[in-house]
Amino acid sequence: MPEATAVINLDIPGPTISRHLYGHFAEHLGRCIYGGFWVGEDSPLPNEGGIRLDVVEALRALDIPNLRWPGGCFADEYHWQDGVGPRETRPRMVNTHWGNVEENNHFGTHEFMALCELLGAEPYINGNVGSGTVREMSEWVEYLTRDGDSPMVRLRKANGREEPWRVKYWGIGNETWGCGGNMRAEYSADLARQYATYCRDHGDNKLYRIASGASDDDYKWTETLMQQISCFGCEATPKNFFQGLSVHHYTLSGPWEAKGSATAFGTDDYYRTMLSAKDIDRILTGHSTVMDLYDRGRTVGLVLDEWGTWWDVEPGTNPGFLYQQNTLRDALVASTHFDIFHKHAARLHMANIAQTVNVLQAMVLTDPDTDALVLTPTYHVFEMNKGHHDATSLAVHLRTDNARRRVGDADLDTVSASASVKDGTVLISLTNLDAEEPVDLTLDLRGATIGEPEARLLTADRIPAHNTPQAPAAVAPRAFDGVKSTGQGLALTLPPHSFLTVRAPLA
Ligand code: AHR
Repeated sequence: MPEATAVINLDIPGPTISRHLYGHFAEHLGRCIYGGFWVGEDSPLPNEGGIRLDVVEALRALDIPNLRWPGGCFADEYHWQDGVGPRETRPRMVNTHWGNVEENNHFGTHEFMALCELLGAEPYINGNVGSGTVREMSEWVEYLTRDGDSPMVRLRKANGREEPWRVKYWGIGNETWGCGGNMRAEYSADLARQYATYCRDHGDNKLYRIASGASDDDYKWTETLMQQISCFGCEATPKNFFQGLSVHHYTLSGPWEAKGSATAFGTDDYYRTMLSAKDIDRILTGHSTVMDLYDRGRTVGLVLDEWGTWWDVEPGTNPGFLYQQNTLRDALVASTHFDIFHKHAARLHMANIAQTVNVLQAMVLTDPDTDALVLTPTYHVFEMNKGHHDATSLAVHLRTDNARRRVGDADLDTVSASASVKDGTVLISLTNLDAEEPVDLTLDLRGATIGEPEARLLTADRIPAHNTPQAPAAVAPRAFDGVKSTGQGLALTLPPHSFLTVRAPLA
């Protein structure tokens, strides 16, 4: 049986793991908003002002720190003024990017801010650079965040909201290298400076402006943007034009043209998927290294505001809706990502899984016919890892000779781990990616002692296992009593294809 040792110094604190690494993303795409979050006030489903309450209740258990909206590619087609005022008179548009369906704009700014309030999440609004104007974006910030009296404040009040909202996270375009305008990095950098200039801090609302960044390992894009961050003598942005720079990376098991089924896949596909998931480490390292060259003080955050698996859509569903099932494979992609995110906590300020409901690697799936709601295996990883939010990271040093698989011409380390401490409680997350073999794990805990551990395990007999309305708990966490105290820490056998969390108080 493969063996591995994880050495953790409980008394050497690392950087804080921002809770925003557990951020989310809701785009006007398929059934994420309409039929997912939003059912409208006349729906027979329990709702608050049109927002679907079973979805809210399920997501509240995740303590979602922030929600990105309205896109994605949709953000660069979206004109916010179409989404305020009486719903029945709001102009309609065609969502040309996602399925060519008509968008009635019933879910707009006020509805999104109400959703954030229900979820207890901070809004992350992505403005339109690709087909919008500087004025349009500037006025949206004013509409949302300005107090007192001004044209946009009067419009907001006329639409029923007296007080300004607080909005911190503000995206300046999305994928400007692609669907957001097919720009060159140099042009995009200039636009980021221009738009950022007019996205003002109103009163004490301070924006965290996020420039549209690279795809995958396009480090040149990041370098071009980083060369343009400084804003000497600016009144609104005293140091940098933008405070965050985004990057997107999706996990696939092969090329874009042959993504494969979410549920019907073999062991080779599974291992290739895990290699692709682990590639996020190389990508974050590359972007962080480039950023270090221009920003030694780490004043600019790296923001991975789209990540997750991307499979073929479920048979019979609209190809433009990106609806996919979610198996134990997706859950292990997520747990592996979080271990890597924790390692990069010093530079990585935020990450947003794509997307929260009914699109790509979702937390919840809703059935369009029966309205049944299902929690996905990925949901459970987010829930089990909640204790890492704003915790102090603890470096994990893994030692193994044989917990490894050869995948094509690469080695895949099959054990992944991370740890943190918060409020006197240690949380250790452990993943065994091996499809068949359990692994004997020793946790060598140094620098402090711990009390009685409690563990929870997420696994299933088969990696393609997934939850459905008929079998909603096929993949769900359960208590695990296999963690034994040793003189110097803990020992356990981690089943194949499984994710485990261990919580223990510092003694
Ligand atoms: O998440 C789906 C799409 O993927 C987003 O709209 C876009 O930004 C990315 O290409």
